[in-house]
Amino acid sequence: MTNSSLLNAAASDFPAWVSSKQARIEQTLAQTLPAGNIAPNTLHDAMRYSALTGGKRVRALLCYAAAEMCDTNIVIADAAACAVELIHAYSLVHDDMPCMDDDDLRRGKPSCHKQYDDATALLVGDALQSLAFEALSQPRLCNNTGLQASQQINMLNMLAKATGSTGMAGGQAIDLASIGKSLTQAELESMHQLKTGALIQAAVLLGAINGSNAQMAAVRTYAANIGLAFQVVDDILDVEADTATLGKTAGKDADANKPTYVTILGLALARQHAQKLYENAIAAIAPFGDSAQRLRELATFIMQRSF
Ligand code: IPE
Ligand code: IPE
Ligand code: MG
Ligand code: MG
Ligand code: MG
Repeated sequence: MTNSSLLNAAASDFPAWVSSKQARIEQTLAQTLPAGNIAPNTLHDAMRYSALTGGKRVRALLCYAAAEMCDTNIVIADAAACAVELIHAYSLVHDDMPCMDDDDLRRGKPSCHKQYDDATALLVGDALQSLAFEALSQPRLCNNTGLQASQQINMLNMLAKATGSTGMAGGQAIDLASIGKSLTQAELESMHQLKTGALIQAAVLLGAINGSNAQMAAVRTYAANIGLAFQVVDDILDVEADTATLGKTAGKDADANKPTYVTILGLALARQHAQKLYENAIAAIAPFGDSAQRLRELATFIMQRSF
């Protein structure tokens, strides 16, 4: 899948920056995931199938952009970006399973459980999640990087909270419990904040680990808004885009009778709401001028994406 269509938001050297960071995270993931010829071969093969190639790598890009703004060492940024993308890949594998969204297509290929089987998909999710924490807990991250062991524990704690029952997994539970129900906008917002916002917020905050209190506070607000905007746009694309462009089945939310920003607000107001969230995100990082430029560009990238 090419990302060139996503880059119309770009100014100056943004497309080159995106390409270089996408290549960097791809390489880090490829090196971190066990090789397919290491036993258990099928599980390792399926992990690589699910985590490598095809994703936009938005969470990794957000992590790198926050790291650049806060002068976080690149070794730390690589590990954090890798951990977040592994958690994200796990969440997609489970999200597509028949007991959840029952989706046959992901990133333009058969979903993990279609390519392999349900049991393998379950284990791929489990193993990708463990690998994420393994990557972020490596002792070498404190070697000559300026990272203190206590900060590393803090990073692990942040990622665990963002992933678990009061973060992404909790949001997914609410999503499934909401099928066929009409939620209030506040209930929908809280569900989206958990299922998608929490991990996106973690991606930004992990990248910003070296930041000052003021930088951390600003990027926290930026991330909360752009994380929510990301899922509002996902809801809109589910209605407006086609399967070939999305690389996943279009129209799934309506088919599954899921409450979304489009069902609750309609397309026009959903777009306006995403725009408002985008503006809040941009306002939060305004005091940081040029150092926040990549985060600004990524916010536009998230709003203008076509898949
Ligand atoms: C899809 O995320 C799932 C949601 C949280 C909406 P992405 O749109 O970031 O998926 P990839 O990683 O680019 O495939
Ligand atoms: C997925 O939300 C959120 C997570 C995987 C945590 P969706 O179910 O809307 O994502 P897509 O549309 O299948 O990518
Ligand atoms: Mg889902
Ligand atoms: Mg889904
Ligand atoms: Mg969706």
